[in-house]
Amino acid sequence: MSDTTHFADYELGIYLQGMLSGAKPDLPMTLAELERLAKEKIDPRAFGYVAGGAGLEDTVAENRRAFERWRIMPHMCRDTSSRNWSTTVLGTKMPAPLMLAPVGVQEIVHPEAELAVARGASSLGVPIVLSSLSSYTLEQVAEAMGDTPRWFQLYPPKDLAVAESFIHRAEKAGYSAIVITVDTRFIGWRARDLQDAYLPFLEGKGIANYTSDPAFCAPLDAPPSENMMGAVGRWTEIYADAAQSWADFKRMREMTSLPVLIKGILHPDDARRAVSNGFSGIIVSNHGGRQVDGAISSLDALPGIVGEVGLECAILLDSGIRCGADMVKAIALGASAVLIGRPYAWGLAVAGEHGVREVIQRFLAEFDLTLALSGISRREEITKEILRRVT
Ligand SMILES: Cc1cc2nc3c(=O)[nH]c(=O)nc-3n(C[C@H](O)[C@H](O)[C@H](O)COP(=O)(O)O)c2cc1C
Repeated sequence: MSDTTHFADYELGIYLQGMLSGAKPDLPMTLAELERLAKEKIDPRAFGYVAGGAGLEDTVAENRRAFERWRIMPHMCRDTSSRNWSTTVLGTKMPAPLMLAPVGVQEIVHPEAELAVARGASSLGVPIVLSSLSSYTLEQVAEAMGDTPRWFQLYPPKDLAVAESFIHRAEKAGYSAIVITVDTRFIGWRARDLQDAYLPFLEGKGIANYTSDPAFCAPLDAPPSENMMGAVGRWTEIYADAAQSWADFKRMREMTSLPVLIKGILHPDDARRAVSNGFSGIIVSNHGGRQVDGAISSLDALPGIVGEVGLECAILLDSGIRCGADMVKAIALGASAVLIGRPYAWGLAVAGEHGVREVIQRFLAEFDLTLALSGISRREEITKEILRRVT
């Protein structure tokens, strides 16, 4: 990684192309328009599954409102000619504090699914967190990532032999951290999906890690290739366990020597419990507003968690990040890095690998420009001092 990372050069590239050849960007520059194109292109049920949230989708909206309440106070007249945003989180190097959040069952928006995402992200050195519920196996995705770091997200299953097998497969395939998601033991009340009576996993989609797993397949009467519905049946039985509590999560954490993060924490007391149970990191997340409608926004939850355990573990954030300025705000409020979900899913839906790469490049360019224009040239300078809360 060079000492300067001027992602803003992407902007100049667009203007130069326009001047030299009249070419305009092949994908819309706003996320709203990209989402609209995705809606035109994919199965309406798949669109509803990705775009939707729980209940009245009030927490989806609240995630946005929270970002609007914080404003940046730019500093002028400082030297920002040389900038570098590279950072390391739990031993994982990244060119900027940005990762791709685990988004399951990507085949519903594009046939190349996580492989296209892996190629798009790795072409920029940006790490991904691969979902347990991926359409390709974690080994296939690892291969598509090449040398770029990746983390594996585990939905804690009822059958702990499956958890252990997934974790060991991830270790072997070069994933450098495990993320245990704890906010999805039931699927949230999602009106759009209920209206469509649509849950893709029940069609055998997004369960490639399970159907390729010896511990998952062991009790099946026939291999998934011969009886997919039998595999889907077992999946519905073991996907989650509402009885699990901290002792079980600690047990899963102890299955590996890799750093283990817990995703879906909003309450500072839970953050404290996570640290006392040996977790190395917390992803502050309300699952993009897909689980508890009425829940606090991730951004509003962040300062309380940073105050409680910020010195003891890595804290990341997702839910509602839609532009480079949002990244700046979350980092200023104490996140080590942020993750995006739906934005790259729209890029994937519209243009596969190319779409994912474009979305990431735009986040990086806008992040770089926002900071450069705010008088900031080093990661350490992104502090609460540059923010004002306006309501
Ligand atoms: C279609 C979809 C599928 C998701 N699948 C998973 C998953 O498999 N595992 C997980 O931990 N989170 C999952 N999430 C949540 C994301 O990791 C992330 O928390 C959320 O998308 C961030 O919010 P954003 O979409 O507003 O950026 C999913 C989100 C979406 C939109």
